[in-house]
Amino acid sequence: MTQRRMGIFYGIGVGPGDPELLTLRALRVLKEAAVLAYPKSSETASENESKAYSIVRAAGVEGNEPLELLFPMTKDAHALEEARKDAAAAIVERLEQGKDVAFITLGDPMLYSTFSYLVPLVKEAGAEVRSVPGVTSFSAAASVALAPLAESDERVIIIPASAGVEEIKERLLEFDSVVLMKAGRHLDDIIDLALTLGVADEAVFASRIGWKDEEVVRGIGRLKGRKAGYFSMVILRKARA
Ligand SMILES: C[S@@+](CC[C@H](N)C(=O)[O-])C[C@H]1O[C@@H](n2cnc3c(N)ncnc32)[C@H](O)[C@@H]1O
Repeated sequence: MTQRRMGIFYGIGVGPGDPELLTLRALRVLKEAAVLAYPKSSETASENESKAYSIVRAAGVEGNEPLELLFPMTKDAHALEEARKDAAAAIVERLEQGKDVAFITLGDPMLYSTFSYLVPLVKEAGAEVRSVPGVTSFSAAASVALAPLAESDERVIIIPASAGVEEIKERLLEFDSVVLMKAGRHLDDIIDLALTLGVADEAVFASRIGWKDEEVVRGIGRLKGRKAGYFSMVILRKARA
């Protein structure tokens, strides 16, 4: 008896929002894969469409068999682990049927993405796993702002804004650019720090890049007191000598 080939599990980076930033490879795999899996926040499951799914749909891809996977927006390690195990089980079930599964993720799958947590769980089941890179949110932000992240021998670091102002300050001593992901709730603290260090004028605030309500602001001092959502970041640049 011949054994059925197990499907391949793909992580597909769909870029930050504009469907034009989907790569040709991402589009090909998404069209060919038997299953298109997309993450959705379990808290907003009935209200909001998955952002990653809306990007590929805007590019004309519905997916042969869409598979919604729910993940809670929480730091509760147990709840996250359970959700990842459930998602991996649903994926492995389809891989065992010989179907390729393409899991879409905002930006790039190798940067703060749910996909990387699924990789070991799916590999454990014996499946082949591949990643298709996507345009990261911070490179898209730097492009919109025309703000180079590094020139010559300069150095860049990417950290979550939750690291806190002391750490951000230290990193800015060591690196020329500091990309602060997940900046939403920390915007005011970042602005205060940037003003104190004299780097607020060069700093870039970028929110919902590639979405209809995209906002990119250079010079963050004037944003003090503003509310910023989850899909926002700040790029700090060391003052040039
Ligand atoms: C879980 S991380 C995902 C990063 C993503 N994998 C990437 O490659 O950009 C979520 C954070 O990425 C940033 N982000 C993702 N999409 C964004 C967008 N369209 N505009 C601005 N920031 C975005 C925000 O800082 C957000 O808090």
